[in-house]
Amino acid sequence: MVNDQVLSEFLQHIIERHHIQSNDSAFLERLSERLATINRLYYQIYSTHPKKDELFEQLIVTLFKANHERSSTLKKRDEEKAEKGHWFLSNEMVGMSLYVDRFAGNLKKMPSKLAYLRNLGVNFLHIMPLFQSPEGESDGGYAVSDFRKIDERFGTLEDLRTLIKEMQKNEMHLMLDIVVNHTSHRHEWAEKAKKGDLYYQDFYYMYENRWIPNEYEEHMPEIFPEAAPGNFTWSEECQKWVMTVFHDYQWDLNFMNPIVLREMIDNILFYANLGVDVLRVDAPAFIWKQTGTSCQNLPQVHTLLQLIKQCVLVSSPGMALLGEAIVAPKEITKYFGTGEFMALECDFAYNAVHMALQWDMLATGETEVMMAAQHEILKKPFGTSWITYTRCHDDIGLGYENQMIKAAGKQPYPHRRFLMDYYSGKFPNSPATGELFSSNPKTGDARISGTLASLCGLEKALRENDSFSINESIQKIILMQAHSMFIGGLPILYYGDEVGYTNDYSFRDDPGKSYDNRWMHRPVIDWKKNKLADKEGSIENRIFSQTQKLIQIRKQLPVIADLKNLTWSTPQNKHVAVFMRDKDADRFFGVFNFSSFPTNLTWYVFKEHTQAPKRLLDHWSGIEIEVGYDHEFLELQPYQFYLFEVID
Ligand code: GLC
Ligand code: GLC
Repeated sequence: MVNDQVLSEFLQHIIERHHIQSNDSAFLERLSERLATINRLYYQIYSTHPKKDELFEQLIVTLFKANHERSSTLKKRDEEKAEKGHWFLSNEMVGMSLYVDRFAGNLKKMPSKLAYLRNLGVNFLHIMPLFQSPEGESDGGYAVSDFRKIDERFGTLEDLRTLIKEMQKNEMHLMLDIVVNHTSHRHEWAEKAKKGDLYYQDFYYMYENRWIPNEYEEHMPEIFPEAAPGNFTWSEECQKWVMTVFHDYQWDLNFMNPIVLREMIDNILFYANLGVDVLRVDAPAFIWKQTGTSCQNLPQVHTLLQLIKQCVLVSSPGMALLGEAIVAPKEITKYFGTGEFMALECDFAYNAVHMALQWDMLATGETEVMMAAQHEILKKPFGTSWITYTRCHDDIGLGYENQMIKAAGKQPYPHRRFLMDYYSGKFPNSPATGELFSSNPKTGDARISGTLASLCGLEKALRENDSFSINESIQKIILMQAHSMFIGGLPILYYGDEVGYTNDYSFRDDPGKSYDNRWMHRPVIDWKKNKLADKEGSIENRIFSQTQKLIQIRKQLPVIADLKNLTWSTPQNKHVAVFMRDKDADRFFGVFNFSSFPTNLTWYVFKEHTQAPKRLLDHWSGIEIEVGYDHEFLELQPYQFYLFEVID
């Protein structure tokens, strides 16, 4: 442990030795304030590395360099965000996740699509990976071969800069990914490693024989058991086994080497300086490996993320971090930080548990498993937030814990089997059209692919030209979106869902995609179809306008800001999910019937946790309702929901 005196001498020494000229006093203040913590976290991981001190110095130089390169516009934006406080908790933010090529063609064409997004109400964009990645071996851009060069398919860095300027003019926020866990095997580091360069072989996990790989494999689950079984790949070029947890073309970076950490922090700050508002840290659960463990969620992962967070707070304090940890419920909340680092690790995590549970509720018409998971989800600390969503570019994993299913009086194995059968359309009369993704016969696990519309039944209803089912599927789509927009967090819609895209099966004919059915829910936008959003009465219009209306309602209600202000009602009716959100004197109730039949709810539900309200305004229908006696009931139609504000 070093004291303040030593650290300030150390800073002075760095400044002189590297001829650093920094007159950004706010930065210097932040650095001095956080240096001891950065130092402590760094040495917690690297204290035994032979070059630890030299590399620590380099890390700090990286922070100076990044701050020096940060534009005055971005520094001003940082200040504005700091003044607002927790800017990213706002109810006024609504996101969409999209691929520029599939949505607009390329980056240059994106600015002309912003009006469409603004009309919908979207003011936050997650642009899917843009940096260079080999075609056919790209994993949708998550196999990066150059962290600084935009892939030619999408455009150039200049195009991105132009888009960002345009977005900022329109008060839109931007999220990009940093793929920290691995690089493409075509990345310069990997290419050099293949040629036998030991310096770069140290960037990866590489072994001459199977001894250590076998030891690892004993406890490591497989992520893509069908397309990429096992966790190691033999490299012919250098005659070594390389760790490849995801696809064989994605080589896992070795963070035991502090050079890797420094390089990746350099990349992170490069993205920050482009003007990224939220950085999506891809697959962070995997960045530390240790034999004898599952190699996921290890304590060092959190130390590394806390260290990254401190560096970001020093060099680009306006950029928030999202940890894409799609892991067990009790593990996810740890990504917000624990102990003294509570709310000082990732600012956001995906509420993947609740997302999956919404699908559970929709299939079963019952809320009990969802309710049994809430005690974990509610552990999220104040000042952090969820990404809430119904669909994204990935599959739906049913990764909640067995005990949650058991708490609802169900058997885990048959329950999950039912959900898989239901969404893959195997279950008799299931309205859903989806497919199983990454089935693992060894464990019986599988995840689910398919678009929001297809999984809600629209594809089948259209095929059968069944107008009752078309209406019902639209109702389900909107129910799912409403629930995820009001539960708390930053909602991120998935492109195409706003007009009801059904599954696209063309990936099967493309050898670069056919091994991965997640492509069935990654549509290429047909603007003729999206234009139908303007055509009164079309399916596209019905879905678009209702989604737009949900967004408008959300933006009007400050009580929906994610201020750790969610209270669940004790279930009175297992088919209906009811929660309260409150802020000062404002109270809001979300009421959602997940079943396919009419049902009702005793009015007591609204009095359980708060002073009995007299009148409620349902923002969805615009109707005011008198609260009845406890022995009277509020009626709900199939898949109906209410967005109640207490007005008296
Ligand atoms: C993330 C991405 C996913 C990708 C994986 C490997 O989970 O969301 O699409 O396959 O990381 O990078
Ligand atoms: C697993 C990983 C996640 C990845 C997904 C892809 O859930 O945790 O990172 O996106 O697999 O299917």
